[in-house]
Amino acid sequence: MENVTMEKIVNLCKQYGFIFQGSEIYDGLANTWDYGPLGVRIKNAVKDAWRKRFIQENDNSFELDAAILMHPRVWEASGHVGGFSDPLVDCKECKTRHRADHLIEGFSSDVIPDTMTDEEMINYIRENNIPCPKCGKSNYTDIREFNLMFETHRGVIKDDKSVVYLRPENAQGEYVNFLNVQRTMRAKLPFGIGQIGKAFRNEITPGNFTFRTIEFEQMEHQLFCKPGTDMPIYEHYKEYAKKFFMDLGLPEEKLRYHDHDKLVFYASAACDIEYKYPFGFGELNGTHDRTDYDLSQHQKFSGKAQDYLDPETNEKYIPYVVESTVGCDRLVLALLCEAYEEQTLEDGSTREVMHFNPYIAPYKVAVLPLVKKFHSEKAQEVYRNLSKYFMCTYDESGNIGKRYRRADVIGTPYCITIDDETLNNNTVTVRDRDTMEQITISLDELPAYVNEKIQF
Ligand code: GAP
Repeated sequence: MENVTMEKIVNLCKQYGFIFQGSEIYDGLANTWDYGPLGVRIKNAVKDAWRKRFIQENDNSFELDAAILMHPRVWEASGHVGGFSDPLVDCKECKTRHRADHLIEGFSSDVIPDTMTDEEMINYIRENNIPCPKCGKSNYTDIREFNLMFETHRGVIKDDKSVVYLRPENAQGEYVNFLNVQRTMRAKLPFGIGQIGKAFRNEITPGNFTFRTIEFEQMEHQLFCKPGTDMPIYEHYKEYAKKFFMDLGLPEEKLRYHDHDKLVFYASAACDIEYKYPFGFGELNGTHDRTDYDLSQHQKFSGKAQDYLDPETNEKYIPYVVESTVGCDRLVLALLCEAYEEQTLEDGSTREVMHFNPYIAPYKVAVLPLVKKFHSEKAQEVYRNLSKYFMCTYDESGNIGKRYRRADVIGTPYCITIDDETLNNNTVTVRDRDTMEQITISLDELPAYVNEKIQF
């Protein structure tokens, strides 16, 4: 919604149990966040929606859950050991650390730091006296490349041989299992492998809440295909991801494609979809045509052939890969920002409401006895019965108006009121969160009625 600020979203998330600062009682660990009871419901629904679109409804796609810790050679083959780094400078005055490319981007849109060498970047920063965002002075160290991978050690001896990395992306788990999945699923090209899982990056720059964190979840899908058939598939996934975002509730006018001008050497095309967050446009996902680079690298580094025998032509080749990757936390954040509205009602009062797509709403219904003394027994029976079908909440404290507001602010799409009519005629009133209109329906029809509304 328009006019929503990050401060409002962060406060609402904290107040109502969506997202808390990580390790809060120790004053937090920068760029880490814990999903609370309501946030975790949204996140799980987003993951289920992704599974439905990218695995279940996507012909010939298979899910994987690979280990987070992989053989260190994987990251040499992928290029992460040698090249997955940020160009950092330290301010000599206030000792804060910054990304050189971000300093330049913030200073001028006339140059593209991605196309500059480290030397060109530091020269540009010095020639233009770009100020430190913290202290305003311009006195920096030279640039040092800082690898983003978290490193740890296995076993008891801490040496080069014991190094393992926390994976910085899911994709490599899918590539190293290409042959396993192809063989066991008897899959023919084109086929896909998808995975939802944690990734870790030692990000040093401020995060904009859950937008940039050091631990996050990715929903990644790799489509393996015959070389030469990749471009139409790439175009398809650009559209497919955008439609997925729109179906979850992000409006088209707040989404835009950002085609990459400068590509990593092995990619033949790359495009992000960006969403207009309250702090500006930011990347939600990426579609990448990675050619046969990853499988070829793994063939080279592992010594195991990664080629595919085409049953129709008898040709042997290494497949191309079109990747579609979505940041789960960034998508949840976009959906939180989009859902929020501070609404002025006809009588002049205001309400805060989260207009979530019912599919992702933490609770699907709130069961409310009109008068606790008379209706709570029946209401609890209704609550227990509905809980067999979907997540429900029960609220009997305060007047009914207050209880509606509590349901609105956490985005519960339906409030079910239990009153004398329920006791006498087995009917309930169902109030819609967005229109605030009420209808009367029979208790017997209620599960099917709600169930139909909460599908994705
Ligand atoms: N396998 C390809 C890959 O990892 P990426 O663009 O580096 O590509 C994919 O990351 C997605 O992961 C991004 O589009 C973004 O949504 C999410 N992402 C990347 N870094 C992140 C971070 N530090 N915090 C939260 N999400 C992040």
